[in-house]
Amino acid sequence: MNAGILGMGRYLPEKVLTNFDLEKMMDTSDEWIRTMTGIEERRIASDDCHSSDMAYEAAKAALKDAEVNAEDIDLILVATVTPDQPFPTVACMLQEKLGAKKAAAMDVSAACAGFMYAMITASQFVMTGTYRHVLIVGVEKLSSVTNWNDRNTAVLFGDGAGAAVIGPVSEGRGILSFELGADGTGAPHLYQNEEDHIVMNGREVFKFAVRQMGESSLNVIEKAGLTLDDIDFLVPHQANIRIMEASRERLKLPVEKMAKTVHKYGNTSSASIPIAMVDAYETGKIKDDDVLVLVGFGGGLTWGAIALRW
Ligand code: ACO
Repeated sequence: MNAGILGMGRYLPEKVLTNFDLEKMMDTSDEWIRTMTGIEERRIASDDCHSSDMAYEAAKAALKDAEVNAEDIDLILVATVTPDQPFPTVACMLQEKLGAKKAAAMDVSAACAGFMYAMITASQFVMTGTYRHVLIVGVEKLSSVTNWNDRNTAVLFGDGAGAAVIGPVSEGRGILSFELGADGTGAPHLYQNEEDHIVMNGREVFKFAVRQMGESSLNVIEKAGLTLDDIDFLVPHQANIRIMEASRERLKLPVEKMAKTVHKYGNTSSASIPIAMVDAYETGKIKDDDVLVLVGFGGGLTWGAIALRW
């Protein structure tokens, strides 16, 4: 049985933090941030809005889009590195909020590649026929782990959530191939320190991301028995426009064939791929039958790519 996306949803907090706002908070400039990252603004969740609240809003939208009831969800997987607390998991909190009574629930921790890991885990249960509907969510409240005194990282991140319902789809559709990977030796380049803040060696992460995103994208195209000409649309992790552009150029796609939300929402880690997908889908950039490549990388180091037919 093939597994694919039955519906999607997203949630973004209302509060906008622009580069000009950041200029007042630290020694930075709109010009530096835009030129070096492509980011113009990001969303910030209020103090009383936690990952489980954002996950709930995105999940409700995805269930509606998929026309699936919460009671029919078999498993909930939430990709996050910013859970409300270590346990109970965001997935369990979401199960309660949705009233998804028969669903098993757990969080998946693979940093910015988390949504790729969750989607592939979900698809295994669907393909074996074990479960019919798996709700996956990528959600982050990165503002809660941002060191607002560190201009190297504070300008990069934002909050938000994206969700998808994974279920059976007809022959030739859905997930065509995937690649997941990890390299624990790269851990010192991107991690959370004892003060709970994000610490990053930007240069090293940049080099790794450019190489890995390109290689993984090409690998899933080959594994699916496709060529570059078959690819209609690219959804890269929205970390930095320069990294995204490098992946797009590897796939020889024109600018309009790549999802781009990094300018509006910054890097929302595991939420960035589903948020960008919903954006592209709602604005008609992704069309029925299109072949998509989704590709992400994150702290760990981790990475993941998927080729799928929409
Ligand atoms: N405003 C102004 N100047 C800044 C800022 C800022 N916000 N941040 C750094 N600078 C300065 C540095 O201090 C440095 O100044 P110096 O030369 O006087 O020392 C100069 O800009 C260059 O800094 P670098 O860090 O060397 O710049 P680099 O070219 O590496 O670009 C960047 C930095 C944009 C962060 C880049 O390295 C990058 O995008 N890396 C990947 C980041 C990323 O994708 N992270 C993912 C995080 S989590 C995840 O998604 C898995």
